[in-house]
Amino acid sequence: MHNLHVAIIMDGNGRWAQRRGLARTAGHVAGAAAVRAVVESAASRGVRALSLYAFSADNWRRPGAEVAGLMRLLQRYLLTQTSRCLEQRVRLSVIGRRDRLGARLVRAIEHAERATAGCTGLHLRLAVDYSAQHSILQAARLAGEDTGPADFQRLLDQVDHAGDGAGAVDLLIRTGSEQRLSDFLLWECAYAELYFTERMWPDFGPADLQAALESYASRQRRFGALAATAR
Ligand code: IPE
Ligand code: IPE
Ligand code: MG
Repeated sequence: MHNLHVAIIMDGNGRWAQRRGLARTAGHVAGAAAVRAVVESAASRGVRALSLYAFSADNWRRPGAEVAGLMRLLQRYLLTQTSRCLEQRVRLSVIGRRDRLGARLVRAIEHAERATAGCTGLHLRLAVDYSAQHSILQAARLAGEDTGPADFQRLLDQVDHAGDGAGAVDLLIRTGSEQRLSDFLLWECAYAELYFTERMWPDFGPADLQAALESYASRQRRFGALAATAR
């Protein structure tokens, strides 16, 4: 499982809470707790990069109170988890737009990124105010006629504040039953293996990550060519 870029669409927090008679925000709190265990598990399994969809550009369309709760949780996550990241040698980056985030959140993002910049373990990428279509449009404006896929990826990383980036996604996991991409890493997922589970995100744990990685290991990736045995 070394050298993998895993991406997760962490969906189902709201339904998890509603089934328990709780407010949607309680689902987001439980979801944030689930993130910690999955990050540790990914780090210990040698995953190279883990991209987590935390807040999409379209999530601004939700009620103000829910959005404010999510922003507070993100801020708290960054403030409390930076030291844990350092302990586990996790490098933390935030991808997506920054111009619509609050000044305090942007400062917390910059602090977490600076503090963990030298970490050489798992690269944890939180997608916040992220839209793949928006990123692709921005990168396309910067691209020239000679821009090839690798250069275009670099432009995307620049637009996304992704630094040296993580490149193509190997395995995309979506929790919460829906089977769609919801504008996440569309360029990077060109040849990603897709894994959908009915588990709601707050219930997703290390054993579920293990199951997804095992499913990935059993697949044959061909990238348009023929399988080795058919050559
Ligand atoms: C995912 O859970 C978290 C975010 C989108 C921020 P949802 O809030 O979308 O949960 P459901 O899909 O309504 O259950
Ligand atoms: C995708 O989930 C975004 C995140 C998980 C952050 P949504 O719940 O927003 O996606 P849709 O609306 O079901 O497509
Ligand atoms: Mg959802």
